[in-house]
Amino acid sequence: MKKKLGFVTAMTLFGLAILSTRYYMVDLPVWHFLGGGEGPDPATLHLRGEFVESNLGAAQGPAGSLTMRMIAQQYVFVPQCIVVPAGVPVHFRITSADAVHLLSFLGTGYGLKAVPGAVTEATFTFDKSGDFKIPCHEFCGAGHYAMRGRLEVVPRDQFASLLPSERRICGPR
Ligand code: CUA
Repeated sequence: MKKKLGFVTAMTLFGLAILSTRYYMVDLPVWHFLGGGEGPDPATLHLRGEFVESNLGAAQGPAGSLTMRMIAQQYVFVPQCIVVPAGVPVHFRITSADAVHLLSFLGTGYGLKAVPGAVTEATFTFDKSGDFKIPCHEFCGAGHYAMRGRLEVVPRDQFASLLPSERRICGPR
């Protein structure tokens, strides 16, 4: 009985901890659950279509909008580190090459699920400059606990002055 109560308490605390995390999560398109074939094929992600290697990372659109394309796969994020300007909405498009992964942007309150065969979209604005870890928060296999990326938020002016190639590299500037 005591053991059972302990378990219930632990699960309740776990539930509260999850609720208190201010994740902004995006529901997947309905067609994903209906078995529609609109999503990217996990097997050929790197070879063709929107998520080929050269198309990953930040892409500047008209009027300065920013789209960030990423792949999650056992056990890395591609790109492993992303650079974004502070205070500017960044539109994410992410998919998975294998299992379900959850990018958790530590310290920002944002989270994003990556699901094979579907594209998850969300627009996040990171207000504070700084370095943030992106651990995977969905168990995805043996290497799950070591799966982490990095987010570097730089001041808007600084981002504007970076060359496209520099926007692909994190690190001391
Ligand atoms: Cu990817 Cu856990």
